[in-house]
Amino acid sequence: DLSPSDAAKLAASRAAIALVEDGMKLGLGTGSTAVIMVRELAARARAEGLSLRCAATSQATADLASSLGLRVEPLDQIGWLDLTIDGADEVDPDLNLIKGGGGAHLREKIVARASDRMVVIADPGKVVETLGAFHLPVEVIQFGWQITERLIREMLEAQGLGQRPILLRKRDGQPFLTDEGNLILDLSLEAIPDPARLARGFADIPGVVEHGLFLGICDLAIIGKPDGSVVELT
Ligand code: A5P
Repeated sequence: DLSPSDAAKLAASRAAIALVEDGMKLGLGTGSTAVIMVRELAARARAEGLSLRCAATSQATADLASSLGLRVEPLDQIGWLDLTIDGADEVDPDLNLIKGGGGAHLREKIVARASDRMVVIADPGKVVETLGAFHLPVEVIQFGWQITERLIREMLEAQGLGQRPILLRKRDGQPFLTDEGNLILDLSLEAIPDPARLARGFADIPGVVEHGLFLGICDLAIIGKPDGSVVELT
C-alpha cells in the first residue's frame, strides 16, 4: 500500500516517463521521488525493450539503476543528454527550485545543465510561492570551510537577509560528505526574495562549490497527486 505522498510521486514519475523515447540519453535524479521514477523507468524499459543510456546524479542512483538493468555510463562518455528527470525540495511559480536535500545538488546541476530538457517530478508539498522555507544546501570544500561560512554570513547580511542559522550537515554524528568529498552547509533563510541576487552572492565566495538554487534550469514540473492525477507547471 502506497502512502499518499508516494502515490503522488508515482503519478508524477509515470507522467515523466511517458516523455521517454527509445534511444534517448537520460539524466537520472536523486532522492525518494527519483527512486520511484528509476524503478518505473526500468520496468518500462524492460517491458518495451527500450535502448537507453543513463547518467546518474549520485552514486546511490547509479547503483539502483544498474541493479535494475538500466545502462549507466559516466556523463562524459554519453555527452549531451536529451532529458533529465529529477525531484526537488521546492518549486516556485517561475520553476525555480531548491534542491540538495539529499546532498546531491552539485552533480544534479551539472547533469541538468547538460540536458536539452529538465523535468522535475514532485508531490504537492513541494510547490511554494516563495523559495526558502526549506533549508538551502550549499556545498563547500573542506579547506577553510569555517572561513567560507563566515563569508556566507557576511554576504547574507549585506543582502539584507539578516543573521540566519547555518548548520554543518552531519550524518551519524560525523560531517556529511558529498559524492565529491565536500561538506554541506544548510542555510535556514525562511524566504528568498531575490534568488538570482543570492546566487550571485554565492558565486563571489571562493569556497562555495555549488548551492541548491536551480534558477532557469527546469523546463517542466510535473506535480503528482495522491489520486494518481498530475498537474503540469510550465
Ligand atoms: C537530492 O540532492 C535532492 O536535490 C533531491 O532531488 C530532493 O531532495 C528531492 O528529494 P525527495 O524526492 O526525496 O523529496
